[in-house]
Amino acid sequence: MERVKIAAKFDQTADLILYEGDCMDLLPLIPDNFVKLVVTSPPYNLGKPYESHLELDEYVAWQRRVIEECVRVLDERGSICWQVGNYVEDGEIIPLDIVLYPIFASLGLHLRNRIIWHFGHGLHASKRFSGRYEVILWFTKGEEYTFNLDAVRVPQKYPKKKYFKGPKKGQFSGHPLGKNPSDVWEIPNVKANHVEKTIHPCQFPVELIERLVLALTNKGDWVFDPFIGVGTTAIAALIHERKAIGAEIVPEYIEIARQRIALAERGELRIRPMHRPVYDPNAPSRMVPPQFVQIGIGPLQPRLLEDDSTYDIEEYDE
Ligand SMILES: C[S@@+](CC[C@H](N)C(=O)[O-])C[C@H]1O[C@@H](n2cnc3c(N)ncnc32)[C@H](O)[C@@H]1O
Repeated sequence: MERVKIAAKFDQTADLILYEGDCMDLLPLIPDNFVKLVVTSPPYNLGKPYESHLELDEYVAWQRRVIEECVRVLDERGSICWQVGNYVEDGEIIPLDIVLYPIFASLGLHLRNRIIWHFGHGLHASKRFSGRYEVILWFTKGEEYTFNLDAVRVPQKYPKKKYFKGPKKGQFSGHPLGKNPSDVWEIPNVKANHVEKTIHPCQFPVELIERLVLALTNKGDWVFDPFIGVGTTAIAALIHERKAIGAEIVPEYIEIARQRIALAERGELRIRPMHRPVYDPNAPSRMVPPQFVQIGIGPLQPRLLEDDSTYDIEEYDE
């Protein structure tokens, strides 16, 4: 296959623009209506190594400036997916989707779903219930928008269920391509032994972004992540023949993103496959399907790999 053309600055002829620096320095270079999907997880202002802690109102004002620019660069049929959790102050949680929603609404965006991303691992709280979900706010810029539901259908729970009366009696009642994945997504987060884990403390699982890329863009469209970390959004876009733009202020994360893209180009990047069932310790058998797939970009098709450890290794205590 041809190599992925990576540019370090804005370049419309590239397949991937990986900008090392502040997203607010990259954004002015991107033309109006250029990207089909903005998908990101911004810093949550929790004092992680890569962020400076701001007062909440300063944080919200900064997010507004980034979001305004993201709306400007968004295609009229495009979507913005802002993935956030909680800001925590003195043991009190402030859900960031609630805080940020008014910004998007004031810019005329349309909220299509508030997706609950449920996962199994995280800190064990002692003074409140442990947090096991975060939120993706999915907005569209206009009334008409790209939404490829068939591309992201999931297996029916009861695929053999049939109509038992009426004119369709005896026919299968479910959609032949599977069911709508709903607005509650159970996808393991990238912790400890997850096959995609890098040094980044809070990277996206690839499958989370694959679903958004497949549903909300078409082949050849541009996907933009202003806070791209170790490049997960770019991987999800490139393996499905989209193009990607991302900014990241930490040079080491940019380097890891480049390494992950290079592995994918060689068909050697290991990812947890979409649709792999989440581990259930009470299931009749602890045997699970292959642990990961090795994926390639473009014509390098996913290869299922058998793994020695047929026991799922996602279950652990932190
Ligand atoms: C929640 S993490 C995103 C991780 C990413 N989703 C992934 O899969 O790797 C937020 C990232 O934003 C980066 N960041 C913080 N401020 C930034 C800025 N002004 N411009 C670009 N990146 C920034 C941080 O270094 C961090 O890697």
